Amino acid sequence: MSTTSTAPQWIATPGKPVTAHVPEMCLGQARAWLVDHRDEIRRGLDEHGALYLRGLPVRSVEDFAAVRDTVVTEAASYKEKATPRSHFGSDVFSSTDLPPQQSIRPHNENSYALEFPGVLVFGCLIAPDEGGATPVTDVRKVLRNIPAPLADRFREHGWGLVRNYGEHLGLSWQTAFGTEDRAAVAEYCRRNLTAHEWCADGHLRTVQRRTATIRHPRTGAEVWFNHMVFWNEWSLDPDVREVLAEDFGAENLPFGTSCGDGTPVTREDIATIDAAYRDATVRESWRPGDVMIVDNILTAHGREPYRGSRKIVVAMGDPVSLDDCAPSAAALAGFAAGVKRRRTSRWRRGS
Ligand SMILES: [Fe+2]
Repeated sequence: MSTTSTAPQWIATPGKPVTAHVPEMCLGQARAWLVDHRDEIRRGLDEHGALYLRGLPVRSVEDFAAVRDTVVTEAASYKEKATPRSHFGSDVFSSTDLPPQQSIRPHNENSYALEFPGVLVFGCLIAPDEGGATPVTDVRKVLRNIPAPLADRFREHGWGLVRNYGEHLGLSWQTAFGTEDRAAVAEYCRRNLTAHEWCADGHLRTVQRRTATIRHPRTGAEVWFNHMVFWNEWSLDPDVREVLAEDFGAENLPFGTSCGDGTPVTREDIATIDAAYRDATVRESWRPGDVMIVDNILTAHGREPYRGSRKIVVAMGDPVSLDDCAPSAAALAGFAAGVKRRRTSRWRRGS
Protein backbone atom coordinates (compact mmCIF):
# COMPACT_ATOMS: atom_id res chain seq x y z
CA MET A 1 0.00 0.00 0.00
CA SER A 2 1.49 3.33 -0.90
CA THR A 3 -1.19 5.87 -1.65
CA THR A 4 -3.29 7.98 0.65
CA SER A 5 -6.40 6.87 -1.23
CA THR A 6 -6.12 3.32 0.16
CA ALA A 7 -9.11 2.84 2.46
CA PRO A 8 -8.57 1.28 5.89
CA GLN A 9 -9.06 -2.48 5.89
CA TRP A 10 -10.36 -3.57 9.28
CA ILE A 11 -8.88 -6.85 10.45
CA ALA A 12 -10.78 -8.66 13.19
CA THR A 13 -8.65 -11.20 15.07
CA PRO A 14 -10.18 -13.02 18.06
CA GLY A 15 -8.86 -11.58 21.33
CA LYS A 16 -7.51 -8.41 19.70
CA PRO A 17 -8.99 -5.01 18.90
CA VAL A 18 -10.01 -4.51 15.29
CA THR A 19 -6.89 -3.26 13.48
CA ALA A 20 -5.98 -1.49 10.26
CA HIS A 21 -2.43 -1.43 8.87
CA VAL A 22 -1.79 2.09 7.68
CA PRO A 23 0.00 2.65 4.34
CA GLU A 24 3.59 3.83 4.80
CA MET A 25 3.70 7.62 4.51
CA CYS A 26 4.95 10.82 6.10
CA LEU A 27 3.03 12.65 8.80
CA GLY A 28 1.42 15.13 6.40
CA GLN A 29 0.17 12.31 4.19
CA ALA A 30 -1.01 10.38 7.22
CA ARG A 31 -3.04 13.38 8.34
CA ALA A 32 -4.57 13.67 4.88
CA TRP A 33 -5.32 9.91 4.89
CA LEU A 34 -7.09 10.16 8.24
CA VAL A 35 -9.15 13.14 7.07
CA ASP A 36 -10.04 11.41 3.78
CA HIS A 37 -11.20 8.30 5.62
CA ARG A 38 -12.88 10.01 8.55
CA ASP A 39 -16.31 8.58 7.67
CA GLU A 40 -15.00 5.00 7.45
CA ILE A 41 -13.24 5.46 10.78
CA ARG A 42 -16.41 6.81 12.38
CA ARG A 43 -18.45 3.91 11.01
CA GLY A 44 -15.77 1.48 12.19
CA LEU A 45 -15.92 3.00 15.67
CA ASP A 46 -19.72 2.77 15.78
CA GLU A 47 -19.50 -0.90 14.92
CA HIS A 48 -16.37 -2.06 16.76
CA GLY A 49 -16.04 0.53 19.56
CA ALA A 50 -12.24 0.74 19.25
CA LEU A 51 -9.83 0.76 16.31
CA TYR A 52 -6.11 0.10 16.35
CA LEU A 53 -4.11 1.87 13.64
CA ARG A 54 -0.71 0.30 13.12
CA GLY A 55 2.11 1.90 11.17
CA LEU A 56 1.47 5.63 11.60
CA PRO A 57 4.59 7.85 11.63
CA VAL A 58 3.92 9.03 15.21
CA ARG A 59 7.21 9.53 17.05
CA SER A 60 6.58 12.50 19.35
CA VAL A 61 3.88 14.27 21.33
CA GLU A 62 3.64 16.82 18.50
CA ASP A 63 3.13 14.06 15.90
CA PHE A 64 0.47 12.51 18.12
CA ALA A 65 -1.31 15.85 18.63
CA ALA A 66 -1.34 16.38 14.85
CA VAL A 67 -2.96 12.96 14.34
CA ARG A 68 -5.41 13.57 17.21
CA ASP A 69 -6.55 16.79 15.56
CA THR A 70 -7.68 14.85 12.49
CA VAL A 71 -9.67 12.38 14.59
CA VAL A 72 -11.51 14.61 17.07
CA THR A 73 -13.05 17.98 16.40
CA GLU A 74 -13.12 19.35 19.95
CA ALA A 75 -10.85 18.73 22.94
CA ALA A 76 -12.53 17.38 26.08
CA SER A 77 -11.23 18.12 29.56
CA TYR A 78 -10.43 15.59 32.30
CA LYS A 79 -12.90 16.35 35.09
CA GLU A 80 -12.98 15.35 38.76
CA LYS A 81 -9.54 13.81 38.33
CA ALA A 82 -9.10 10.36 39.79
CA THR A 83 -5.56 9.29 38.86
CA PRO A 84 -2.26 11.11 38.46
CA ARG A 85 -1.31 12.13 34.91
CA SER A 86 1.45 14.22 33.33
CA HIS A 87 0.51 16.95 30.89
CA PHE A 88 2.82 17.10 27.86
CA GLY A 89 1.16 20.17 26.33
CA SER A 90 -1.41 20.48 23.50
CA ASP A 91 -3.99 18.64 25.67
CA VAL A 92 -1.89 15.47 25.47
CA PHE A 93 -1.43 13.53 28.71
CA SER A 94 0.27 10.41 29.98
CA SER A 95 -2.31 7.63 30.04
CA THR A 96 -1.57 7.28 33.76
CA ASP A 97 1.35 7.78 36.13
CA LEU A 98 0.37 4.86 38.37
CA PRO A 99 3.23 2.42 39.18
CA PRO A 100 4.08 -0.19 36.48
CA GLN A 101 3.19 -3.21 38.59
CA GLN A 102 -0.35 -1.97 39.10
CA SER A 103 -3.06 -3.08 36.71
CA ILE A 104 -5.98 -0.76 36.04
CA ARG A 105 -9.44 -2.25 35.66
CA PRO A 106 -11.59 -1.38 32.68
CA HIS A 107 -13.52 1.86 32.93
CA ASN A 108 -15.23 4.42 30.69
CA GLU A 109 -13.44 7.72 31.19
CA ASN A 110 -15.31 10.19 33.42
CA SER A 111 -18.41 7.96 33.64
CA TYR A 112 -19.25 9.75 36.91
CA ALA A 113 -19.35 13.24 35.32
CA LEU A 114 -22.32 14.93 33.64
CA GLU A 115 -20.21 15.41 30.52
CA PHE A 116 -17.53 13.00 29.36
CA PRO A 117 -15.27 12.51 26.35
CA GLY A 118 -16.93 10.81 23.38
CA VAL A 119 -13.60 9.74 21.93
CA LEU A 120 -10.21 8.85 23.40
CA VAL A 121 -7.06 8.64 21.33
CA PHE A 122 -4.10 6.64 22.66
CA GLY A 123 -0.66 6.65 21.09
CA CYS A 124 2.49 4.65 21.70
CA LEU A 125 5.74 6.63 21.80
CA ILE A 126 7.75 4.06 23.80
CA ALA A 127 6.60 0.43 23.97
CA PRO A 128 7.37 -1.42 27.22
CA ASP A 129 9.65 -4.48 27.22
CA GLU A 130 6.88 -6.66 28.56
CA GLY A 131 3.13 -6.25 29.21
CA GLY A 132 1.59 -2.79 29.43
CA ALA A 133 -1.23 -3.28 26.93
CA THR A 134 -4.24 -0.99 27.04
CA PRO A 135 -7.00 -3.64 26.99
CA VAL A 136 -10.37 -2.54 25.67
CA THR A 137 -13.77 -3.87 26.66
CA ASP A 138 -16.99 -3.77 24.66
CA VAL A 139 -19.49 -2.50 27.26
CA ARG A 140 -22.47 -3.43 25.07
CA LYS A 141 -21.33 -6.99 25.59
CA VAL A 142 -20.66 -6.42 29.31
CA LEU A 143 -24.30 -5.40 29.80
CA ARG A 144 -25.49 -8.47 27.88
CA ASN A 145 -23.20 -10.66 30.02
CA ILE A 146 -24.59 -9.44 33.36
CA PRO A 147 -27.52 -11.57 34.60
CA ALA A 148 -30.80 -9.69 34.05
CA PRO A 149 -31.86 -9.30 37.73
CA LEU A 150 -28.51 -7.71 38.59
CA ALA A 151 -28.47 -5.48 35.51
CA ASP A 152 -32.08 -4.41 36.17
CA ARG A 153 -31.28 -3.42 39.74
CA PHE A 154 -28.61 -1.03 38.46
CA ARG A 155 -30.75 0.14 35.54
CA GLU A 156 -33.39 1.22 38.01
CA HIS A 157 -31.25 2.71 40.79
CA GLY A 158 -27.97 3.61 39.09
CA TRP A 159 -24.80 3.49 41.16
CA GLY A 160 -23.51 5.54 44.06
CA LEU A 161 -20.06 7.03 44.46
CA VAL A 162 -18.47 8.38 47.64
CA ARG A 163 -15.06 10.00 47.31
CA ASN A 164 -12.74 11.15 50.08
CA TYR A 165 -9.96 13.44 48.89
CA GLY A 166 -6.74 13.36 50.89
CA GLU A 167 -3.03 14.02 50.70
CA HIS A 168 -2.05 10.54 51.83
CA LEU A 169 -4.29 8.44 49.68
CA GLY A 170 -5.69 9.16 46.25
CA LEU A 171 -5.68 12.76 45.08
CA SER A 172 -6.07 15.94 47.11
CA TRP A 173 -9.18 17.99 46.37
CA GLN A 174 -6.91 20.75 45.06
CA THR A 175 -5.51 18.40 42.40
CA ALA A 176 -8.81 16.70 41.61
CA PHE A 177 -10.68 19.96 41.10
CA GLY A 178 -7.75 22.04 39.88
CA THR A 179 -8.27 24.85 42.39
CA GLU A 180 -7.19 26.01 45.87
CA ASP A 181 -10.54 27.69 46.42
CA ARG A 182 -13.13 25.84 48.52
CA ALA A 183 -15.90 28.07 47.19
CA ALA A 184 -15.01 27.03 43.62
CA VAL A 185 -15.30 23.36 44.63
CA ALA A 186 -18.69 24.05 46.23
CA GLU A 187 -19.88 25.79 43.08
CA TYR A 188 -18.62 22.96 40.85
CA CYS A 189 -20.42 20.42 43.05
CA ARG A 190 -23.63 22.48 42.99
CA ARG A 191 -23.58 22.71 39.21
CA ASN A 192 -22.69 19.03 38.81
CA LEU A 193 -25.22 17.46 41.17
CA THR A 194 -22.66 16.30 43.69
CA ALA A 195 -23.19 16.55 47.46
CA HIS A 196 -20.09 17.68 49.34
CA GLU A 197 -18.97 18.19 52.90
CA TRP A 198 -15.79 19.36 54.58
CA CYS A 199 -15.09 16.78 57.27
CA ALA A 200 -13.84 17.56 60.79
CA ASP A 201 -10.24 16.77 59.82
CA GLY A 202 -10.47 19.19 56.87
CA HIS A 203 -10.76 16.65 54.07
CA LEU A 204 -13.43 16.81 51.41
CA ARG A 205 -16.06 14.11 50.90
CA THR A 206 -18.37 14.02 47.89
CA VAL A 207 -21.41 11.84 47.22
CA GLN A 208 -23.15 11.42 43.91
CA ARG A 209 -25.57 9.05 42.24
CA ARG A 210 -25.19 8.34 38.56
CA THR A 211 -26.84 6.15 35.99
CA ALA A 212 -25.25 2.74 35.43
CA THR A 213 -26.49 2.29 31.87
CA ILE A 214 -26.81 4.74 28.99
CA ARG A 215 -27.45 4.63 25.26
CA HIS A 216 -25.01 5.75 22.62
CA PRO A 217 -26.42 9.03 21.28
CA ARG A 218 -25.86 8.08 17.64
CA THR A 219 -26.25 4.31 17.44
CA GLY A 220 -28.76 3.86 20.31
CA ALA A 221 -26.77 0.90 21.67
CA GLU A 222 -27.35 0.35 25.40
CA VAL A 223 -24.14 0.01 27.41
CA TRP A 224 -22.88 -0.64 30.93
CA PHE A 225 -21.26 2.72 31.69
CA ASN A 226 -19.87 3.32 35.17
CA HIS A 227 -16.97 2.98 37.61
CA MET A 228 -18.95 0.79 39.99
CA VAL A 229 -16.62 -2.24 39.97
CA PHE A 230 -13.52 -0.13 39.35
CA TRP A 231 -13.84 1.68 42.68
CA ASN A 232 -15.62 -0.89 44.79
CA GLU A 233 -13.89 -2.03 47.96
CA TRP A 234 -14.23 -5.68 46.84
CA SER A 235 -12.03 -4.88 43.87
CA LEU A 236 -9.13 -4.01 46.16
CA ASP A 237 -6.44 -6.52 46.90
CA PRO A 238 -7.63 -8.19 50.18
CA ASP A 239 -4.52 -7.12 52.13
CA VAL A 240 -4.76 -3.54 50.88
CA ARG A 241 -8.46 -3.45 51.69
CA GLU A 242 -7.84 -4.57 55.26
CA VAL A 243 -5.06 -2.06 55.87
CA LEU A 244 -7.03 0.81 54.37
CA ALA A 245 -10.18 -0.01 56.31
CA GLU A 246 -8.13 -0.19 59.52
CA ASP A 247 -6.21 3.04 58.91
CA PHE A 248 -8.97 5.18 57.49
CA GLY A 249 -12.27 3.48 58.34
CA ALA A 250 -14.52 2.02 55.66
CA GLU A 251 -16.41 5.33 55.22
CA ASN A 252 -13.17 7.22 54.57
CA LEU A 253 -11.75 5.13 51.75
CA PRO A 254 -10.74 7.34 48.81
CA PHE A 255 -13.43 5.71 46.67
CA GLY A 256 -16.50 3.73 47.58
CA THR A 257 -19.32 2.51 45.37
CA SER A 258 -22.74 1.05 45.97
CA CYS A 259 -26.04 0.58 44.26
CA GLY A 260 -27.58 3.99 43.56
CA ASP A 261 -30.09 3.61 46.41
CA GLY A 262 -27.14 3.41 48.81
CA THR A 263 -27.40 -0.35 49.39
CA PRO A 264 -24.10 -2.23 49.30
CA VAL A 265 -22.94 -4.44 46.45
CA THR A 266 -21.85 -7.90 47.48
CA ARG A 267 -18.53 -9.50 46.74
CA GLU A 268 -20.40 -12.02 44.55
CA ASP A 269 -22.04 -9.21 42.54
CA ILE A 270 -18.64 -7.65 41.92
CA ALA A 271 -17.21 -11.03 40.87
CA THR A 272 -20.12 -11.54 38.45
CA ILE A 273 -19.70 -8.13 36.83
CA ASP A 274 -15.93 -8.54 36.78
CA ALA A 275 -16.35 -11.76 34.81
CA ALA A 276 -18.71 -9.95 32.40
CA TYR A 277 -15.92 -7.43 31.70
CA ARG A 278 -13.27 -10.12 31.32
CA ASP A 279 -15.31 -11.96 28.73
CA ALA A 280 -15.67 -8.79 26.64
CA THR A 281 -12.03 -7.64 26.81
CA VAL A 282 -9.45 -7.75 24.02
CA ARG A 283 -5.84 -6.58 23.95
CA GLU A 284 -2.90 -5.84 21.69
CA SER A 285 0.77 -5.24 22.58
CA TRP A 286 1.90 -1.71 21.82
CA ARG A 287 4.45 -0.93 19.13
CA PRO A 288 5.89 2.57 18.65
CA GLY A 289 3.66 4.58 16.32
CA ASP A 290 0.49 2.62 17.15
CA VAL A 291 -2.59 4.75 17.67
CA MET A 292 -5.81 3.42 19.16
CA ILE A 293 -9.06 5.34 18.75
CA VAL A 294 -11.69 4.47 21.33
CA ASP A 295 -15.37 5.38 21.45
CA ASN A 296 -15.56 6.10 25.18
CA ILE A 297 -19.25 5.19 25.37
CA LEU A 298 -19.05 1.82 23.60
CA THR A 299 -15.70 0.79 25.02
CA ALA A 300 -13.96 0.72 28.38
CA HIS A 301 -10.17 0.71 28.67
CA GLY A 302 -7.67 -0.37 31.31
CA ARG A 303 -3.95 -1.01 31.66
CA GLU A 304 -1.94 -4.15 32.21
CA PRO A 305 1.19 -4.19 34.39
CA TYR A 306 4.48 -3.83 32.53
CA ARG A 307 8.26 -3.88 32.72
CA GLY A 308 10.63 -1.39 31.15
CA SER A 309 10.01 2.11 29.89
CA ARG A 310 6.54 2.91 28.60
CA LYS A 311 5.20 6.13 27.13
CA ILE A 312 1.59 5.83 26.10
CA VAL A 313 -0.06 9.20 25.60
CA VAL A 314 -3.75 9.99 25.50
CA ALA A 315 -6.00 12.81 24.37
CA MET A 316 -9.71 13.16 24.95
CA GLY A 317 -12.19 14.76 22.60
CA ASP A 318 -15.71 15.31 21.30
CA PRO A 319 -17.42 15.74 24.70
CA VAL A 320 -20.88 14.20 25.16
CA SER A 321 -23.53 15.33 27.59
CA LEU A 322 -25.12 12.67 29.79
CA ASP A 323 -28.50 14.18 28.92
CA ASP A 324 -28.05 13.04 25.32
CA CYS A 325 -27.47 9.41 26.35
CA ALA A 326 -30.86 8.42 27.79
CA PRO A 327 -29.61 7.70 31.33
CA SER A 328 -31.78 5.00 32.93
CA ALA A 329 -31.55 6.64 36.39
CA ALA A 330 -31.43 10.37 37.11
CA ALA A 331 -28.22 11.96 38.40
CA LEU A 332 -28.57 13.02 42.04
CA ALA A 333 -26.47 14.88 44.58
CA GLY A 334 -26.31 12.20 47.27
CA PHE A 335 -28.30 8.98 47.36
CA ALA A 336 -31.57 10.09 48.95
CA ALA A 337 -34.63 10.41 46.76
CA GLY A 338 -36.00 13.92 46.66
CA VAL A 339 -32.68 15.76 46.56
CA LYS A 340 -31.97 17.85 43.49
CA ARG A 341 -32.95 15.83 40.48
CA ARG A 342 -31.51 16.33 37.05
CA ARG A 343 -34.03 16.52 34.25
CA THR A 344 -33.29 13.78 31.79
CA SER A 345 -33.99 14.32 28.15
CA ARG A 346 -35.49 11.64 25.98
CA TRP A 347 -33.17 9.47 24.00
CA ARG A 348 -32.97 10.79 20.49
CA ARG A 349 -31.90 8.22 17.94
CA GLY A 350 -29.87 9.70 15.16
CA SER A 351 -29.21 13.02 16.88
FE1 LIG B 1 -8.73 5.95 31.87
